[in-house]
Amino acid sequence: MNVSAPEGSRSEAVAIAAERRWAVVVGGVLLLLVAMMVVTGLHWAAMPPSRVETVDVKTLHIAGEFIESNLGSALEPDGSVTVRAIGQQYSFTPQCILVPTDTPITFRLTSADVVHGFLITGTAINLMLVPGYISSIPARFDTPGDRHMPCHEFCGLGHEGMWGRIRVVDKATFMRMAADARRLTCVK
Ligand code: CUA
Repeated sequence: MNVSAPEGSRSEAVAIAAERRWAVVVGGVLLLLVAMMVVTGLHWAAMPPSRVETVDVKTLHIAGEFIESNLGSALEPDGSVTVRAIGQQYSFTPQCILVPTDTPITFRLTSADVVHGFLITGTAINLMLVPGYISSIPARFDTPGDRHMPCHEFCGLGHEGMWGRIRVVDKATFMRMAADARRLTCVK
């Protein structure tokens, strides 16, 4: 009778089944890990980092905070000043930004096309302007005078010619000018 043969093939079948089961489990774990990497990678690539403000590049010039009539320096009810500006190939709008001394200032900028840089010489103010995002930085100027505002991110063939000016005037002068205009610049 064939008693011993089925005994041997049964233990072999048990071993094969166990191996298959574990192959499926290990393969499943690997697939799960790869799927987690893909999902989190895509999620992070598609989401802006937290606490970052976004803006729609397509409607930048026709609606919202960065329409042309809203650019420049605005005196806020609390006495602070908000400066709004745009970088685009190859200039800043406005080209000359007017700010007062001894006043809390908030710069709010964005880009209309590619990544630009925004820095004010002689200060620690240094931002990247990324299309679709609002870059914001607080500032305060102690002394009047002109400072340069060059683009410091390579943004194309005209990059070297992309720069503007910051004009710091004493607070009393700025407040007199702000009484007559909703948005101030020093563009001639
Ligand atoms: Cu804009 Cu370099």
